[in-house]
Amino acid sequence: MHQRKMGRMPISRTAKSIPVSSRVSRFSYAIRNIVVEAQAVEARGTHVRYMNIGDPVAFGFQTPVHLVEAAERAMRDGHNGYLASAGIASAREAVAADYSARGVPTAADRVLITTGTSEGIELALSALVDEGDEVLVPLPTYPLYTAVIAKIGAHARYYRTDAQRDWQPDVEHLRHQITPRTRVLVVIDPNNPTGAVYTPAVRRALLEIADEHGLTILADEVYGDLGFDGSVPLLGTLDRDAPIISLSSLSKAYLAPGWRTGWLVVGATPRLDDVLVAIKKLADGRLCSPGPMQYAVTAALTGNRSHQISFRKALAERARLTTDSLNAIPGMRCVAPRAAFYAMPMLSLPPGRTDEDYVLALLRETGILCVYGSGFGMPPEAGSFRIVYLADPGELRPIYADIAAFTRHYLQRA
Ligand SMILES: Cc1ncc(COP(=O)(O)O)c(C=O)c1O
Repeated sequence: MHQRKMGRMPISRTAKSIPVSSRVSRFSYAIRNIVVEAQAVEARGTHVRYMNIGDPVAFGFQTPVHLVEAAERAMRDGHNGYLASAGIASAREAVAADYSARGVPTAADRVLITTGTSEGIELALSALVDEGDEVLVPLPTYPLYTAVIAKIGAHARYYRTDAQRDWQPDVEHLRHQITPRTRVLVVIDPNNPTGAVYTPAVRRALLEIADEHGLTILADEVYGDLGFDGSVPLLGTLDRDAPIISLSSLSKAYLAPGWRTGWLVVGATPRLDDVLVAIKKLADGRLCSPGPMQYAVTAALTGNRSHQISFRKALAERARLTTDSLNAIPGMRCVAPRAAFYAMPMLSLPPGRTDEDYVLALLRETGILCVYGSGFGMPPEAGSFRIVYLADPGELRPIYADIAAFTRHYLQRA
C-alpha cells in the first residue's frame, strides 16, 4: 500500500526539464525540418504541394509487384525472426552477382544488407572516421552526410560542385580541402540535390586524388539506375582495386523507400579487409535490417526490371518540363538534371535576402514546399533551392506557373 502511494507521487512542478545532448544541436536535416512550417501553413487552410521529399511512391509510382510478393511470401513463410546481421545469404549473393555483372567483381562476403543507404552511410563513416577526422563531402550535399559526420564528432569539408559546369565537382577546389586529418571522400553520383551525373574524366580525377592521399571513397550510387541515358556505371568499374565502399538500396530505383532496405559493398582490395570486419562488428550491434524485405532484394536484382525503363522515361520528361519552366523565369537559372528526380535552381536574390526567406515566402503564399539550398550547405545568399519533380506533368505545370508568378512579385517588392 505504502509503495503504491509512493508510485503515484506527483512530479514536482519546479523540476527542470531533462537536458538534451549537445550532439543533437549539431545534427540538422532541413528536408524534414521544413515540414513543420508546412504543417503550420496547412493548419491555416492553404493546400500544401510537397516538392521536398524524394519519395516516388508518394507521387503514384508503384513498387513492382514481384517485390511486394517476395516480401509478403517471406512473411507468410515465417521469415519473421532475427536474421544474420550482415543479411541473408541469398540477398548478399544477389547483390554480389549484380555488382559482378556490372563490371565490379564482388564476393557475397563483402556485402551487407542494410536498413537503407542511410544506415550504410552511418555504418561506413562510423567504421572509418575518428573524432576530429575530416570527411570530404560535395557542396551542395545530401544532408545526412554532414549530420552523421557531426554526430560522430568528425568534421565535414565541402568540395564545390559547379553550377556553371553542370554541377561537376571542382577538382582543384577539392584538392585544397585535403588535410592530414582527411579520411574519406564522399561521392554522390548521380547526385542529389543537383541531378548531375559526373563525367568519366571527373570520376577518374576523383579516384586519382583519393589514391594520392590515401582516402577511402564512399560511393553513394543509390540513383545509379535512374540516369536518363540508362544506368550509370558503378564507380568501381574505373578501378577495381580502389578502396571504394558502395552504397545503394531499394528506395529509389526499386520504388520501395519505406522498406528501409539497402546494401553496402566493400571493395575487393585487401586494404579494406579491416574496415569490412569493423563494419560487420558494428552491424552485429543492431542485430539485422528488416527481415522479410531482404527477400525482395533477391527478387529485385534477379527479376524483371522493366519498371525502370518507364520510370526513367517519366523522369526525363519531367526534368525537361522543370528546366524549361524554371529557366523561363527572369532571374532564375536551372541546370538540366541528367538523372534522378531533383533539380537545384538558383535565383538572383535581392541584397540581404536568403534562400530560406524565399522558400518560406513561397510556401506561405503558394503552399509550394521546396527545400532551401542552405539546408544542403549552400551559402544562403546564393538563392538556391531544391525541387523534387516527381509529380505528374499535369500537376507540375500549374506549380511552375505559380512559382513564376510568385517569383516575379517577390523580386519586384524587394
Ligand atoms: C544521395 C542519397 N543518399 C542516401 C539516401 C537515403 O536513401 P535510403 O532510403 O536508401 O536510406 C538518399 C535519399 O534521398 C539520397 O538522396
